[in-house]
Amino acid sequence: MADADRPHTYRPDALIAEDIGAYLARHRDADMLRFITCGSVDDGKSTLIGRLLYDSQAVFEDQIDQLQHDSARVGTQGESLDFALLVDGLSAEREQGITIDVAYRFFATEKRKFIVADTPGHEEYTRNMVTGASTADAAVLLVDARKGVLQQTRRHAFLAHLLGIRHVILAVNKMDLVDYAQGTFEQIREDFARFAEQLDFTQVTAIPISGFAGDNVVNRSTAMGWYDGPTLIGQLEAVPLAGEAPRPFRMPVQWVNRPNQDFRGFAGLISDGAIRPGDAVRILPSGATSTVTAIETFDGGQDEAIAGQSITLTLADDVDCSRGDVIVAADDPPQVADQFEASVVWMDRTAMKPGRGYWLKLGTRTVTATLQPPKYEIDVNNPVGPAARLAAKTLELNGIGVVELHTDRPIPFEAYSDSKTLGGFILIDKETNATCGCGMLNFALRRAQNVHWQQTDVGREHHAAIKNQVPRVLWFTGLSGSGKSTIANAVEKRLALMNRHTFLLDGDNIRHGLNRDLGFTETDRIENIRRIGEVAKLMADAGLIVLTAFISPFRAERQMVREMLPDGEFVEIYVETPLEVAEARDVKGLYKKARAGELKNFTGIDSPYEPPERPEIRVNTVDMSVEEAADHIIAQVLPLK
Ligand code: ADX
Repeated sequence: MADADRPHTYRPDALIAEDIGAYLARHRDADMLRFITCGSVDDGKSTLIGRLLYDSQAVFEDQIDQLQHDSARVGTQGESLDFALLVDGLSAEREQGITIDVAYRFFATEKRKFIVADTPGHEEYTRNMVTGASTADAAVLLVDARKGVLQQTRRHAFLAHLLGIRHVILAVNKMDLVDYAQGTFEQIREDFARFAEQLDFTQVTAIPISGFAGDNVVNRSTAMGWYDGPTLIGQLEAVPLAGEAPRPFRMPVQWVNRPNQDFRGFAGLISDGAIRPGDAVRILPSGATSTVTAIETFDGGQDEAIAGQSITLTLADDVDCSRGDVIVAADDPPQVADQFEASVVWMDRTAMKPGRGYWLKLGTRTVTATLQPPKYEIDVNNPVGPAARLAAKTLELNGIGVVELHTDRPIPFEAYSDSKTLGGFILIDKETNATCGCGMLNFALRRAQNVHWQQTDVGREHHAAIKNQVPRVLWFTGLSGSGKSTIANAVEKRLALMNRHTFLLDGDNIRHGLNRDLGFTETDRIENIRRIGEVAKLMADAGLIVLTAFISPFRAERQMVREMLPDGEFVEIYVETPLEVAEARDVKGLYKKARAGELKNFTGIDSPYEPPERPEIRVNTVDMSVEEAADHIIAQVLPLK
């Protein structure tokens, strides 16, 4: 056995057994390689990982057991070191008891320590791969020598590339089952190389192995004398570690530490670069500048801190800075923007809903983001070249697309290729709190930078004051045929008699003009309500009492409109007529058509209606007459002058 190939077991110091998190943090910049294994059970993945662990450190199995036992903590701690945003989302999921199917294992040779993320390749493979790959320096793609490069291999390679992995090892496994034939290996190596050259990996190394027999995993194979490249462990020991290029200082603020009046520190994990007392910093998005006075850590004050360290900074000036802000090098700040092009990976069984607001978490900041329908979806089975761009209206589970999105507030960011922390984000469903997607910011859209809010001299207060009234949006929601328009009409008549300035926006009418391009798919209904919300807001700004009568079937969009308006201005009125009653009335004959299958996506029949949970007002047209309902509403809203 060549000396370089001989495994040297490494005795982890006592700290590991005590606290793996602290251990990882301390060794962040030591020689620790994180890698991900991709492939299916059939490819022999478990056997290979077992072989790696077994051959490289059988001596310390008891400690390894302990570490494996702690694997969830390894994962959490490990990720929070450099992709905190992903982890925050994932740990949110953990709190809800949803397990992430990625096992982290720790092992070591004398040359290097390793964390391997083992990601099952089943149906939700993107979720698992994203979890495992977001912090990985290298990917081991497993291929069964009898089957060669499969679509799955290409998918995994593409995803690894998308997530920023630049070192790939193609482990051609089960060589023992093809009689260790050199020709078979060479063929597979060339096949993959042809595909991989289209993705700009820094290094692709193919290695013929047998996890089962142990060839070229840790120990050099005697059966493949024709192969003189590295063993798998040898190559893993040789992969250069990321992060060599110097980066300007970046630290997303996790919390403001204010134990007393005299001390105010900004705590966070340095994602990039280094910092020293005396350095000039800038706080984004505000742009305020100051100078670092001190760096505090668990171990006391420090003269310098670098990426991967959790610190508390104190500044010379009393600047505004809170959780979600980013402290950066004053002379080399990232951009701030609110419209982006991003690559998005969808990880939820419920498809992405263009137009819907999702929580977007980037760094330590959470904002609301709205996604456009994808510019295109990427054909993950054939992801390179013009043919890889598929037309798509949305993204389904495992779908990957290029999407334009905008956030409700400007955020400091960098392209993902420059910073995983300030360019990587996760998307969270506001209703279920599930992490439903993740993405990588590519660049800010230029149009965002050239549009500025124009301040006008005559504002909404003035508009309302000359009308001598308080603006409101009376938002009626309910099934088709529930009586929304009829009641809204009666309410408007009463308001008119009281000399109030009003305007009634009605579903069927608006769909003849402004929204005539919209149908009744979920996406179109979301857009319908978004536009009505914007119009209602403009009218409320004009000082009017606005009444809207739209089915508005989804809670998320009603909530979105509520949030667009000043507190208390949005009044949700649920017209609570049961489906049976609305259907029995069937004023327009539409329920009949829908039941006969002639009308698709009809609310209450084959399209959902999500009733309000806490509407300001409930009325119905079963126990109440239209007049009574209108009186009830007027009585509730008329304390408004
Ligand atoms: S919403 O769901 O997008 O809020 P909106 O209130 O604008 O709907 O329009 C609903 C009206 O459109 C109904 O009162 C009905 O007259 C008509 N309509 C036509 N097709 C449908 C459908 N598939 N589902 C519901 N309403 C429909």
